Order: sequence, then structure tokens, then C-alpha cells
Amino acid sequence: MNKFSMSIPGSSGNLGPGFDSCGMAVNLYLTLHVEVQERWEFFHESPYLPPVENDADHLIFQTAKQTAERHQKQLPSCKVVVESDIPLARGLGSSASAVLAGIEMANQLCEIGLTDEQKLQYGTELEGHPDNIAPALYGGIVFSAVTEERIEHIQVSTPELGLVVHIPDTELKTEKARQLVPESFLRNYASSASAVSNVMVAALLVSDYRLAGRMMEQDLFHEPYRAGVVPNYELIRNEAKKAGAFGSIISGAGPSMISFVPEAEGKLVRDHMRRKLPDYKIAVLEIDMTGLQVGK
Ligand code: HSE
Repeated sequence: MNKFSMSIPGSSGNLGPGFDSCGMAVNLYLTLHVEVQERWEFFHESPYLPPVENDADHLIFQTAKQTAERHQKQLPSCKVVVESDIPLARGLGSSASAVLAGIEMANQLCEIGLTDEQKLQYGTELEGHPDNIAPALYGGIVFSAVTEERIEHIQVSTPELGLVVHIPDTELKTEKARQLVPESFLRNYASSASAVSNVMVAALLVSDYRLAGRMMEQDLFHEPYRAGVVPNYELIRNEAKKAGAFGSIISGAGPSMISFVPEAEGKLVRDHMRRKLPDYKIAVLEIDMTGLQVGK
């Protein structure tokens, strides 16, 4: 295709104990308008995106080029206008959506015919884990497992859940936040941590959101190690609960946090939290149920 647009949702990885495996798509979007022309040009049209310094270094370009080369294709040069309402380095999946944008851009421009499984595979290889790529691709809440043969995944919808996101004015790079998590865990610790995760997932599936929220706040895999670098971690958990939230989690690697709330109470929780944290960007979000979309 010579001219097309695409939109990809932001995402929140982990959902507490589902470290590197669970994630959900949220209604913040990266949007690209792509048109084949004689040379490469990227334009950023969003206050969240820094000025374009070098088209050849652009993550979307790099990913598209690599994807085309994997399939022995030559990527044609394009004008790419990038819009985004996903803040960078806040734990809301901005890099996963850019990676997926690059993969899909190559897919469309070179008519590769990638399957969703291939897109998930390529994106996961680049990201290192599927918890953002999978929901960005499929939408909804997605549980994924990287096995030797393939990446297994399952998408679920939880329509009654509301979300309130708390975004601080500080960045936290995923790489730095990952260094805080231990390389390995002892057997008893790991079995307790996966028990918490299992109950969280089962509770979500039967819509027992109070229990799911409690389990989200009992994570043993990463939150205890990252709590110290996530501003207002305890305050957000405590105050959101006082206002009616089921539970709050670090979104991905942080520093944003997301509270899960009864669908009708999002604004109430948001307003309470805005009074407590006037310097934060606090908003009601929805779970995006469609994932990556390509149009004319
Ligand atoms: N699962 C990842 C992490 C999400 O927690 O480090 C951030 O990319």
C-alpha cells in the first residue's frame, strides 16, 4: 500500500503479579499517517514526542527496515506523520506501540502478509517480553507465555472495569527499572509469587474484582523492588482504595500507576486523587478492545 494510516493503543504491562506476561491495552493512541515519497521524512505532531533529530535513527524506521530485511524486501522511502497521546518513559507502552508501528509499516509497504502471530513474535523479540506488544496488537487484557515453540496468548475482556491512571512528571526508563528486579528467585518465593498471579488471573476471569485487586497489590515479582523508585507508591494505593478502587498497580515498569475501579466510579476516584496529587496528570482511561488498526 502506498498511502495508509494506522493506530496502535498504549498499554500497561504486568498488572501487578503478571510480570512480563499480563498486559492490557488502554485508550491512548499512537497514530501514523504514511505515504510513499522520494525520501524519508518523519514529522512528530504531539507534545509528548521530542523533535525528530535523525530520520535514520527513528525507532519506527529501524524496526520497519529490520522487518523488511527479514523478508528480503526493500522498504520504500516515505513521509511519516506521527501523532501520539502516549507519554514516553511512563510505563504506558510507548516503545511497544512504536515497535509494532514499525513492524506493521513494513508489512503494509512491502506487502509481506505477516500473520498476527509473526507480529507478536517479532515485537516480543525486540521488546524482550510480550506483555505490552500483545495487548497493543490484539486489544483487551492479554495473558502471554513465551514457550520454545511459540508465544501462546489469550485475550479476555472485562467490560465492567474502570481505570484511573496517575502519571507523574518524571520519567523512568524500563532498563533501569528492570535492573532493580532480582535475576532469580528461590523456589518457595517463586511458588508464592506465581500463586498470587494465578489467583489474580482467575479472579479477573470470574469478575471478582475485589479479589483481583487484592492480588494485584500482593505482587512479589517486581513491585516490592520498584516501589522505592515509583513516586507516591503507597499514597496512591491507600488513597485510591479509600476512594473505592479495587487495587492499584505500577503500570509496566513505572513510574505511572493505574487503579482499577468500578466502572461507574472512575470520575469519583480521579477527582479524589487529583486533590491528593495536584502535580500529577490523573485521568480516567478505558480498556481498548481493538488493538492495532490499519485504514486508508
Ligand atoms: N514487563 C516489563 C517490566 C514492562 O516490568 O519491566 C515494561 O516494559
